[in-house]
This record gives sequence, structure tokens and C-alpha cells, in this order.
Amino acid sequence: MNIILLGPPGAGKGTQARKLVDERNMVQLSTGDMLREARTSGTDMGKRVAEVMDKGHLVTDEIVIGLIREKLESGQKNGGYIFDGFPRTLAQADALGALLAEEHQTLHAVIEMQVDDAELVARITGRSTCASCGEVYHDVTKPVPADGKCTNCGGTSFTRRADDTEEALKTRLLAYYKQTSPLIGYYYAKGDLKSVDGLASMDDVASAIKTALA
Ligand code: AP5
Repeated sequence: MNIILLGPPGAGKGTQARKLVDERNMVQLSTGDMLREARTSGTDMGKRVAEVMDKGHLVTDEIVIGLIREKLESGQKNGGYIFDGFPRTLAQADALGALLAEEHQTLHAVIEMQVDDAELVARITGRSTCASCGEVYHDVTKPVPADGKCTNCGGTSFTRRADDTEEALKTRLLAYYKQTSPLIGYYYAKGDLKSVDGLASMDDVASAIKTALA
């Protein structure tokens, strides 16, 4: 089963992707994580994308399609792929369709996570991530435990993303509405779209996704 998690920054795509990986043995393909990895590795590509990401703009289609192509050509399929944060433009959506066809695979569903903009600001500015395993926390809704240890791996170091500021979020939201939200109509027309209420609790969103995938 291959699925796309589609939604604005902070909608909960990464949070739900991690649950699906645990429960269904699926493989999470997050272009955001791949780009952050590239920038810390100091490659030329990493240096090029760092400034773009920090300001909240989209990285070029060519780069992200290349990253996904590499993963699909070399990857283990296991329980299928979760595309998290990809595609984000119509060109990326067309490219994904072609790449899956080349690999003799299909898309099972596109899960649109609906969250209103005011909630997104609160979610993004309160987010932190375990530096060891990537578990995602929130100052209010999922705080780091009082003993300062990650519940998943016991790590004690937590980071905040450079683009998780109110200023960068404005640009990220604009990019979402201008370039990514047309994908809602694109996948609706293809008959692949399922929408869930992303404002519900993390467990209720997970249940809604389970129902949508049944
Ligand atoms: P990326 O890393 O993909 O970021 P994003 O899409 O902006 O999404 P986020 O990771 O910020 O949010 P999320 O939906 O995963 O929410 P999360 O689960 O963490 O992209 C970053 C940048 O990389 C882009 O701006 C761009 O520059 C570049 N890029 C990436 N992909 C690209 C592409 N395809 N093309 C071009 N450029 C690309 O949750 C957020 C917070 O809310 C957490 O604290 C969490 O604990 C909390 N939370 C989650 N669910 C709930 C809930 N139900 N109730 C309460 N709190 C919740």
C-alpha cells in the first residue's frame, strides 16, 4: 500500500507517518527529512537548499524528484511507502505517478489532513524533536517527559527547526496555498482523495486514517 499524507506545515503528517511505520511496517519517505539530512552532510546540494528551506520556500522540483527517484529505485518496499511532504507541486505529482508506474506500483490513497491556520501557528512554534530518533514533541500537547528523556529512545537532546518561526511559517503557508493545495483537486479528480479532521487528537486522527485506508 502506497499513500500520500497531504496537508499544510504542522498538520501532523510526520506524527501520523511515524505511527503508520510502527503499526504497518511501512516506509516513511519525508522529503523534508531528506533535505535536512543533505544540509547537515555539507554536500553542495545541502548548501544550496539550506537558505531556501530556512526562509520557508520550496526547493526545486528537480532536486526533490531526484531524491524520491533514488529511494524508489533502491528501496525496500515492506508494507509500502508513506509519502510525507511529497508531492508539493503539480509537476511533482505527475513525476510521482510516472515513477510509481515505472516500478509497477500504484497509489492507494491520498490522505488530506485538514487543520485551520491559527492552530498551525501554535503547533509549529511549540514543536521540538528528539535529536537521536526524530520523535516529535510539542510544548503543550506532547511535552518532553519531566525526566528530560525521549519516550522512544531515551535520548536527552531535543532540537527546534530553523524554519519553525512565525515569519518562516507565513512563507511556508503561502507556498502551501499557492503551490500545494491544487493537489487536493488533482487527487480528488483521480478518485484518490480521503480527507480527515487533523484538528482531532493524535489518536483520533490515527483512527480516522485507519478507517480511510480500510
Ligand atoms: P517538511 O519537513 O516537509 O515540513 P512541512 O510540510 O512544513 O511539515 P512539518 O514537518 O512542519 O509538519 P507536519 O505536518 O509533519 O507536522 P508534525 O507531525 O511535525 O518541509 C520543510 C521544508 O523542506 C519546506 O518548507 C521546503 O523548503 C522543503 N521541502 C520539503 N519537501 C519538499 C518538496 N516536496 N518540494 C519542495 N520543497 C520541499 O506536527 C507538528 C506539531 O504539532 C508537533 O509538535 C506535533 O507534536 C503536534 N501535533 C501533531 N498532530 C497533532 C494533533 N492531532 N493534535 C495536537 N498536536 C499535534
